[in-house]
Amino acid sequence: MRKRDLLTLQDYTPDEINGFLMAADRFKRGNADPDEMNILSGKSIVLLFQKPSTRTRVSFEAAIYQLGGHPIILGWRESQLGRGETIADTARVLSRYVDAIVARVYRHSDLVEMARYANIPVINALSDMYHPCQIVADLYTMLEKFGYLRGLKVAYIGDGNNVCNSLLIGCSKMGLDLSIACPEGYEPSTEALRFAEKNSMHSGSKIEMLRDPFSAVKDANVIYTDTFVSMGDEAEREERLRVFLPKYQVNNRLLDAAPSDALFMHCLPAHRGEEVTDEVIDGPRSIVWDEAENRLHTEKAILAEIIKYQMEPS
Ligand code: CP
Ligand code: NVA
Repeated sequence: MRKRDLLTLQDYTPDEINGFLMAADRFKRGNADPDEMNILSGKSIVLLFQKPSTRTRVSFEAAIYQLGGHPIILGWRESQLGRGETIADTARVLSRYVDAIVARVYRHSDLVEMARYANIPVINALSDMYHPCQIVADLYTMLEKFGYLRGLKVAYIGDGNNVCNSLLIGCSKMGLDLSIACPEGYEPSTEALRFAEKNSMHSGSKIEMLRDPFSAVKDANVIYTDTFVSMGDEAEREERLRVFLPKYQVNNRLLDAAPSDALFMHCLPAHRGEEVTDEVIDGPRSIVWDEAENRLHTEKAILAEIIKYQMEPS
């Protein structure tokens, strides 16, 4: 049987990413045909979480149910993984029971290992390196708000983390410009920057690395931020807040430096008063709740496209 993992969007062509966006649109508008609406009928999918989650877990669980499938939630520590069973052995066994694994892990290399030993698709529900499902929802949200993607400019302010790495890939694949403003030592990964540079040669995206948030938001259509203290970085919390604040906070003063129709996005959860102020996230330019809702429609799209691929004759 063919299988297609989603560990990073770098493994997908712009046409395939567009396929996710079009499928999400069918699901959101109720235009999916009955076969697509029930594509997971008779199928079980494991949702394996090593870290906390609200949106990813609930949107995937609801998406699987709404597509006719059966979600099985498995906590890392409640499974034998927590007692030392290897990832390879776990992947081999789960492949005998279910049709896909959606996994959130600390180490991206653990996902790579899982995908290597599973003969069912493995979908990255966030790792220390990438958060591809978030960026599919973000691209869909931008498409919904602006009606096009190519040529939009996103300003990402803050930590060059997993979300930033995936934004680099998503934007550079789909022809969006991206200006990143981050402090020294908190840049996105060199791998993601290398991918973005390569993708941009085909898409024409302009990728810019800056220190100054005010320069980054100039001409931006979207201002995007994420936490300064990702899951796993808690021990560095004090140091990080000292480095990032006040310069990298998205507040009204920064929004005022952007075009007046620029919109605010955040993958959530927000740390109000740190990377973003209440006035911005609750303000008229914030689209974070639509962005969060779109996780449901795009998780359906990702599952449907991956399962369709598996069902096609090789
Ligand atoms: N944005 C996101 O992935 O949120 P959760 O951590 O709640 O899943
Ligand atoms: N960068 C954040 C994203 C949370 C959805 C983290 O990894 O904790």
